[in-house]
Amino acid sequence: MDFTSNKRPDNMVRITTPELAHAFIDEAVEAVRAQVGDGKVLLALSGGVDSSVCAALLIRAIGKQLICVHVNHGLMRKGESEQVIEVFQNQLDANLMYVDATDRFLDLLVDVDDPETKRKIIGGEFVKVFAEEAARLDGIEFLGQGTIYPDIIESEKGVKAHHNVGGLPEDLQFELVEPVKLLFKDEVRVVGRELGLPDSMVDRQPFPGPGLGVRCLGAITRDRLEALREADAIVREEIDAAGLPIWQYFCIVPDMRATGVRDGLRAFEWPVIIRCVNTTDAMTATVEELEWPLMKKITNRILAEVPGVCRVCYDLTPKPIGTIEWE
Ligand code: XMP
Repeated sequence: MDFTSNKRPDNMVRITTPELAHAFIDEAVEAVRAQVGDGKVLLALSGGVDSSVCAALLIRAIGKQLICVHVNHGLMRKGESEQVIEVFQNQLDANLMYVDATDRFLDLLVDVDDPETKRKIIGGEFVKVFAEEAARLDGIEFLGQGTIYPDIIESEKGVKAHHNVGGLPEDLQFELVEPVKLLFKDEVRVVGRELGLPDSMVDRQPFPGPGLGVRCLGAITRDRLEALREADAIVREEIDAAGLPIWQYFCIVPDMRATGVRDGLRAFEWPVIIRCVNTTDAMTATVEELEWPLMKKITNRILAEVPGVCRVCYDLTPKPIGTIEWE
């Protein structure tokens, strides 16, 4: 296989089994070693499927010559950064730099309520933090990236769907190392599993680069963001426990309040909106028809466990007309 080419060979076998993944990993490891020699590779590790599998593969190939940087922008889901540290630092013994930039991001976002401006601030700050970390390190020649084949197809068609956080500036002057760029998403997952990554990481639902920032509607406040994070964790926990194969399931917290009664007193608190959708390509989506008992269980848990929330709603809107994310 030619790891420098951007064209997947027509006769390339689809990686569907551990054996095929094993053979791919052997080949990719050799190719990475040949490209990198004893050089150092820097990688922005978000904890998403693609960057995680890319990191695990590079660790297998070059060990501590890989330096992973995980930037916590404060908009991660509950437990996500902790999982990155646990898997990569503790289990895979990776060279991992963890940067908690929560305050930087949240301070910049104070009073910013326009969705596109929020996205630009988050994306721009991410690049800044990453570049600052890169500048601290000497002798880096290579940049690892979890580019996958659909990314190549999309950028060739000129329809790069989203300004992703983690999209790094081209002037960083590194040679790219992209060992999974000819693989489709399902193949990346098979390879990740074979490399020993946990299912919870390999099967992760899609999560936008700007994270909870586009689900904490309007101007983000720390208390409302925290409510969103807790409610989101409950939805994920209950749907995972029910074993439902839903494409995306998450919460939104709007910047408005509703009246309720708590302990006999008037409450004026946020609503949580639950959104569960199925799709194959994210261009259109249908709403998952959750069973009523599960809806009730999730609702009761959110109302009992999440401070500041007194109402739970379910989003019944298909795409089109509603996009999957609210912002
Ligand atoms: P929409 O909201 O456009 O979302 O229906 C389609 C898919 O893209 C994800 N999404 C994003 N992913 N950066 C990303 O990496 C973003 O800014 C972004 N916005 C939406 C969304 O979660 C869904 O899977």
